[in-house]
Amino acid sequence: MSHFQRMSRAYIISITNQKGGEGKTTTAINVAFGLAKRGKKTLLVDMDPQANTTGIFVNPDKLDKSMCDVFNNKIPLKDIVFKTSEPNLDLAPSKITLAEVEATGGNVDVPYILRDALQTLEAYDFIVIDCPPALSIFTINALVASTHVVIPAQAEKFSIDGMSGLQNTINSVKRRINPDLRVAGALITQLKPKTVLTKTILPVVGQFFTVFHSTISEGVAIGESHLAKQCIFDYAGDSKQAKEYQDFLEELLRELKA
Ligand SMILES: Nc1ncnc2c1ncn2[C@@H]1O[C@H](COP(=O)(O)OP(=O)(O)OP(=O)(O)O)[C@@H](O)[C@H]1O
Ligand SMILES: [Mg+2]
Repeated sequence: MSHFQRMSRAYIISITNQKGGEGKTTTAINVAFGLAKRGKKTLLVDMDPQANTTGIFVNPDKLDKSMCDVFNNKIPLKDIVFKTSEPNLDLAPSKITLAEVEATGGNVDVPYILRDALQTLEAYDFIVIDCPPALSIFTINALVASTHVVIPAQAEKFSIDGMSGLQNTINSVKRRINPDLRVAGALITQLKPKTVLTKTILPVVGQFFTVFHSTISEGVAIGESHLAKQCIFDYAGDSKQAKEYQDFLEELLRELKA
């Protein structure tokens, strides 16, 4: 039964952490491209009004339709999804006006908008959702719609308060709305060469979430790849970070049994 259900629906992975600059967008982009390059039909959903993910593919200011219109119930999700130049990779774009949707108070359907909208789409193998740096209605929508959560955490600057707040939110969503939601794990990002993971980070982050064995080290290739509007595999396939994101993706797929 559960095997059949798993076969018949997509893995929906929220990349989330309410702290800013933890590596959410970098991870969402590279996981989505990595899956597409493995032949998985993948949808990348930008739930962040900052539209950093969207900016890799198009100029958000030039968009006339975005997640904003889906949240305002103006148009179906399929009308904003477009094919990217990467085979197997589609994008549901965001733009800055998504922030205006925050004021949808009073509507009890609000937490379910994304889940309902995703159910109207054609079949994807994977849906990867880039979340904003806030436990906002967009993050709640992403968690409600997801099967799994990945939590990027910056090696040097993660916060214990942040981790426990995120854990509480995930547990509330599980308890009240989405009992199937699973934390796949926390991914340590922007690791500096001399940082000793076992002494500094694992004991703290590990109190809250399982930590992936794979880690992503700090390196200029990441920032450069964003500027070049490419994933790390296309921008610098031989870089340390490309190898690390490759290893992470394989670990994630093992964890998901996908
Ligand atoms: N492994 C890395 N090495 C070096 N720089 C990195 C690495 N990962 C991310 N960065 C840089 O850190 C910054 C934040 O990364 P990113 O945008 O992925 O985080 P975010 O969690 O999505 O941020 P926000 O909360 O603002 O959405 C970016 O400038 C990015 O280029
Ligand atoms: Mg981001």
